[in-house]
Amino acid sequence: MTTRNSPALAAVRQIPGPGRASALPVLFKMVRSRLDVMAWAAAEYGDAVRLPLGPKTLYFFNHPDHAKHVLADNADNYTKGLGMVHARRALGDGLLTSEGELWRKQRKIIQPVFQAKRIAGKLGAVSDEAERLTRRLRSQAGKGPVDMRAEMTAFTLGVLGRTLIDADLAEFDSLGESFEAVQNQAMFDAITMGKVPLWLPLPLQTRFRRARRDLQRIVDRLAAGSKAGAAGDDFVSRMIESMARETDQRLGRVHMRDELVTLLLAGHETTASTLSWAFHLLDEHPMVWERLHDEAVAVFGSGPLTTDSLHRLTYTTQVLNEVIRMYPPVWLLPRIARADDVIGGFPIAAGSDVLLSPYLLHRHPAFWTSPERFDPERFTPAASERRNRYSYIPFGAGPRFCIGNNLGMMEATVVLATVARDLRLTKVPGYKVSGEAMLTLRIRGGLPMTVHTAS
Ligand code: HEM
Repeated sequence: MTTRNSPALAAVRQIPGPGRASALPVLFKMVRSRLDVMAWAAAEYGDAVRLPLGPKTLYFFNHPDHAKHVLADNADNYTKGLGMVHARRALGDGLLTSEGELWRKQRKIIQPVFQAKRIAGKLGAVSDEAERLTRRLRSQAGKGPVDMRAEMTAFTLGVLGRTLIDADLAEFDSLGESFEAVQNQAMFDAITMGKVPLWLPLPLQTRFRRARRDLQRIVDRLAAGSKAGAAGDDFVSRMIESMARETDQRLGRVHMRDELVTLLLAGHETTASTLSWAFHLLDEHPMVWERLHDEAVAVFGSGPLTTDSLHRLTYTTQVLNEVIRMYPPVWLLPRIARADDVIGGFPIAAGSDVLLSPYLLHRHPAFWTSPERFDPERFTPAASERRNRYSYIPFGAGPRFCIGNNLGMMEATVVLATVARDLRLTKVPGYKVSGEAMLTLRIRGGLPMTVHTAS
């Protein structure tokens, strides 16, 4: 370990960035467009930037080696940071926000229920849901536009209900709204550094407090109604079962609630954003849509989607990989350094806020040719092999790598292939799509699309 005044730190380079006088303007710009500020900082100052933000200073690193160091090689020196720290107010100590020994214990228990083999066992249920969605969309063909962002949010939440807890979440109308309120509060807390007391009756905070109460009620009902403890086949039962084996005692209701809210939140917005961006990009690239359609017809036609056919949807997988390169749902990975560190030759003091951004790494011109171009050919097996592993981190890296990546990718592949097999979606003419960097990177204001049947 180095200390702030150690020769090791003195010998390293100082991190470039705008001066203190820019702290307020940067803060205002961050509120309006976080991605633009970070893209500007990277273009102006390079791969390591010191970014004054109101009373704070952020250290933004944008090289694959930096990502490797912070997320994997020296991961023990970093805890979750900005936004995530505050998301704890809403999520409690679920897997996404917990730290240290508690996180290690939770991860060990939850990891097996997300294994690829178990996820594959859910393919039938996910495929049924995708067929139902496609039939419902088809019934809208030639009619008014459908908001695909709202459709995908409802769909992914529904699938999580079926795969995680064997419950029909559609009966809880307020669930989507509650998660929205949690996201808004977490962003507000990140920007105001969690300094605004929660009891202050700002409309946003009032909505958040109501959402938290609602979420607690909903999850308590679900937990009570699930096959908890009865050795059921749903994820929660398995989780409780393995927890009981691990610690020899029942999981407390609060802990159970935190874990479920975390999994539902982390699991549905991410996959829904991926699919929404996919539909947007495919509308802009009709040839890619054609190829997807042809692949789906050739691989599973009107028959059921099996594990084998899922593996043969290679072009669909390439398309999705390219979608989350351009629009990684988790666009920011914030961390706080526990002890002094040196990242890529730059000194970082204990307690510093360190930021990595999959969105900007995925568009780094030194690692991606024409990064603004949508091109699924970047993800052929040969091209993937040549790539620097840490230049592409849509699911993070190291010990805190996404636990739900298999489920998220399976779900997105099934939906995309099933919809492309039967339908064609086009954006409402003149509708301008732009990104909104909340906890996830989503399409601002929704995605109205017209449904056509595939020719
Ligand atoms: C396309 C879909 C998804 C993307 C792009 C994605 C992305 C990510 C990323 C980047 C992280 C790392 C965050 C960090 O290091 O700070 C993460 C963590 C996590 N994700 Fe996902 N995710 C997706 C789907 C899911 C699903 C379906 C679930 C669960 C049902 C899930 C649950 C989690 C959890 C619990 C963590 C925290 C793991 C830990 O800290 O040990 N994710 N995800």
